[in-house]
Amino acid sequence: SADDLLRVAELVRSVPDYPQPGVLFRDITPVLADGGAFATVTTELAAHAGEAEIVIGVEARGFLLGAAVALVAGVGTVPVRKAGKLPAVAASRTYELEYGTATLQLPAGVVEPGARVYVVDDVLATGGTAAASCALLADAGAEIVGFGTLMELTALNGRSKLGDLRVDALLSA
Ligand code: PRP
Ligand code: HPA
Repeated sequence: SADDLLRVAELVRSVPDYPQPGVLFRDITPVLADGGAFATVTTELAAHAGEAEIVIGVEARGFLLGAAVALVAGVGTVPVRKAGKLPAVAASRTYELEYGTATLQLPAGVVEPGARVYVVDDVLATGGTAAASCALLADAGAEIVGFGTLMELTALNGRSKLGDLRVDALLSA
């Protein structure tokens, strides 16, 4: 409900100058640490997952949310991981960071071509992580039904990197 989400919003901690001077970091740790708030965000995102057969969690904070959303939705979960962690890889995507690049990977053998997937991460900032995650799922032949996040940092316009994909953001800042 709107009241529940208001309470979730109050639990997000804003940390000035992290990880660099001038950045106001939105820390969702206290949301996950609160049983009621964790239930609220998990239930709300699971409702958006709709007909998805798998919920994807993006390393690392997306794992916490994605696994819980999958359980509530009654489906399985698959991690999108940073490069070098998986023994067998189905697809890789490299994307630009402020300094340098990063690579994300999908494990082999768990997302069938045509599988409907819902992608979950804690925060949508510049959208680089979400776009790379969705791109590697598309490479694997998955049908992405939407991207769900606890918080969207709207000033960074990460949504613009996701084309016409549905974005479900429970909170925005
Ligand atoms: C954070 C966050 C998202 C991403 C959002 O993860 O959890 O995954 O950044 O930023 P973007 O929209 O600009 O790509 P981070 O890379 O810090 O990794 P972590 O979860 O492993 O700490
Ligand atoms: N909070 C959490 N994750 C993030 C942020 C933030 O403010 N910016 C980029 N990733």
